[in-house]
Amino acid sequence: IFLTNTIGLVQAFIIGEDFLGNDDVCLVLGDNIFHGSELQNLSAKAGQTVKNESKAIVFGNYMKDPERYGVVAFDKSGKAYDLEEKPESPKSKYAVTGLYFYDSTVTQRARELKPSPRGELEITDINNVYLKKNTLAVKVLDSGTAWLDTGTFGSLMQAGQFVQAIEERQGLKIGSIEEAAYRSGFITKEQVYKLAAPLLKSGYGENLMKL
Ligand code: G1P
Repeated sequence: IFLTNTIGLVQAFIIGEDFLGNDDVCLVLGDNIFHGSELQNLSAKAGQTVKNESKAIVFGNYMKDPERYGVVAFDKSGKAYDLEEKPESPKSKYAVTGLYFYDSTVTQRARELKPSPRGELEITDINNVYLKKNTLAVKVLDSGTAWLDTGTFGSLMQAGQFVQAIEERQGLKIGSIEEAAYRSGFITKEQVYKLAAPLLKSGYGENLMKL
């Protein structure tokens, strides 16, 4: 009954509860695109911090229109003190991106969360639970990291143009999980060939073969 009646991003932790078990977790929103050289390092560090310090870590990004997102405000010392979901008058220019790291207590916290006035289990409310307990760290993405969302037709077009421009100029693929897995040593060269073989008719498979 709970699952069918309640929606919102936080529902992911309830649906995925058995899969997660006692593991820490990283949630990435499907309509968010991240691109930049610092990301791998940043994610690895965030994972370590969550593991060692039982925390949550989210990322802030400077935006022209923060009111479209969750907004985080920082005090003079740079510490996050306020989080609001799509506020009419944002307290800062920093949007919270759709990349979240949580310790294993997040599932229990998700179960205890009450739906917002619009009837959703809000990710910002979970983040506020961590913030109030002083266990939320907010890292600001540097300007060399691109954060794009694809939730509207306009932003989807922009993201497409960004990816097209970089892929065509560099001849490299953005977001190739096979390439990332190979470079990280998770799969072998032979496995890349095997994965690429059925995709040869598309430029994608060809690109994997070249790799
Ligand atoms: C969601 C979150 C919001 C976050 C945004 C990032 O908004 O609720 O806090 O800043 O993703 O893309 P939504 O995409 O559901 O409007």
